[in-house]
Amino acid sequence: MDIGAVKIQIESDFQNIGSAVSLEELRLKYLGRKGIIAQLTGSIPGLKKEERAAFGQAVNALKKRAVSLIEEKEKSFADSLNGEGAVSRPADIGLPGITQELGHLHPLTRVIDEICAIFMRIGFSVVEGPEIESEYNNFTALNIPLEHPSRDAFDTFYLNNRLLLRSHTSPVQIRAMKAHKPPLAIVVPGRVYRPDAVDASHSFMFHQIEGFMVDKSIKFSDLKGALEILAKAVFGQEIKMRFRPHFFPFTEPSAEVDIRCIICNGKGCSVCGRKGWLEILGAGMIHPAVFKHVGYDPKKYTGFAFGLGIERIAMLKYGINDIRLFFENDLRFLRQF
Ligand code: PHE
Repeated sequence: MDIGAVKIQIESDFQNIGSAVSLEELRLKYLGRKGIIAQLTGSIPGLKKEERAAFGQAVNALKKRAVSLIEEKEKSFADSLNGEGAVSRPADIGLPGITQELGHLHPLTRVIDEICAIFMRIGFSVVEGPEIESEYNNFTALNIPLEHPSRDAFDTFYLNNRLLLRSHTSPVQIRAMKAHKPPLAIVVPGRVYRPDAVDASHSFMFHQIEGFMVDKSIKFSDLKGALEILAKAVFGQEIKMRFRPHFFPFTEPSAEVDIRCIICNGKGCSVCGRKGWLEILGAGMIHPAVFKHVGYDPKKYTGFAFGLGIERIAMLKYGINDIRLFFENDLRFLRQF
């Protein structure tokens, strides 16, 4: 083998690298166990004695050159991976890409965010409370007497040590009022639990938003105004609302609030049970007994409170007829929002 020819070959091989041959192929070709350098070295014993030294030196020089060419190329590949050169490198089209599926907010989360945003615009803060509550916060401090049916084990999930899964978001009223002095304007989104048999309109877990406001001289008309802003923002400017007298132990007076049925526009249909109205929330003026439990002077302060069910609002808004759809994680349902 002619050393001069190999010298020329090696330079041109490394020039053309990347198009026809890879670096690894060239490494094998020149430095591999059966590569050209090894063959040249192996041919030394067959040479004339006086030629061996010069030939050996030439082979050594060739080997050094090959090694340094490889190092040089490796470095320039690494650089181009980090730099602009990367763009011009051919893409590996042998592997399919991994698509990242982009999710979106659950319809209930959207309704919660929407309603919280409405109240934040009129100065309310959003506060959350724990789902595991004390019997005291869930009932006693809310003026719910021991014999009240909602305290029955059939209506509340009890845990040990006088703890329970909160059956409404109202206990956060107690927490917030104990932690802060008036004025207060707060909305509380969150999960609540009741041991109801699951069907198209009942779930043992659902979501509520509690809202309440306490200050000197808060009036029923403030409640009405706040709820009107809510109803119009969620269901449109044309929506009609009515207050029906009701009873809650923690508000006095109390009301259930209906909106005109958005399906039949008041004519009466199966969704509103032929009534023409849909109940959407409970509300009232905070009972003085509740203020006493949190250490507010009921002669000095008044306040309103309301609690609404998120699932019900979402079902009306989106025309969903089965509450279970929210919780089954069926993507065919969820992808529609
Ligand atoms: N906590 C009541 C419920 O879950 C709703 C409510 C809240 C009523 C605040 C009046 C005032 O049914």
